[in-house]
Amino acid sequence: MDLWEAILTRRSIRKFKAIQISEDLIEKILRAGMQAPSARNKQPWHFVVVRNRELLNQISVIHPYAYMLKEAPLGILICGDSKIEITIEYIVQDCSAATQNMLLAAHNFGLGAVWLGIYPREPRIKALRELLNIPPHIIPVSMIAIGYPDEKKSPENRFNPERIHYEKW
Ligand SMILES: Cc1cc2nc3c(=O)[nH]c(=O)nc-3n(C[C@H](O)[C@H](O)[C@H](O)COP(=O)(O)O)c2cc1C
Repeated sequence: MDLWEAILTRRSIRKFKAIQISEDLIEKILRAGMQAPSARNKQPWHFVVVRNRELLNQISVIHPYAYMLKEAPLGILICGDSKIEITIEYIVQDCSAATQNMLLAAHNFGLGAVWLGIYPREPRIKALRELLNIPPHIIPVSMIAIGYPDEKKSPENRFNPERIHYEKW
């Protein structure tokens, strides 16, 4: 799949087959995350790779819209390090760029994935800190549930010329 096709056909996948994902693919997805642009090239991210069934189940309870983690063989929490990047808005943008890179990489490798919002929802941040031993200077920003897809979704055309403003608004 080339990049153009990946961008146009990626969809959120929330149903997964009970097949584990190889170490090699996990590393490639993490590599895609770390390849993202970041403000002043600070690369403030950390990734918590969760495969433990009990932990994934617990996250699906903590997070109100993460039921699919009960089936997903893999969750990756993307966090930002406030000692590396002190501006929270940049942490969020940098980690979001990493998250999108990872979604596209997963799709490229025939996996399905969905972005789960964490920041700025304090109850989710607090519960994940406790469950996954995340230190205070590390900010959980987003999570991705990943697995081999057990649903098919058609591409959606979202091109909207009304949202384009040439030269001036
Ligand atoms: C910041 C953010 C937070 C999201 N949080 C959730 C979530 O908690 N649970 C979920 O199932 N999907 C979540 N999504 C996925 C969106 O629902 C999805 O991207 C959107 O409906 C468009 O569908 P598509 O991804 O198939 O193109 C989130 C997406 C973003 C960008």
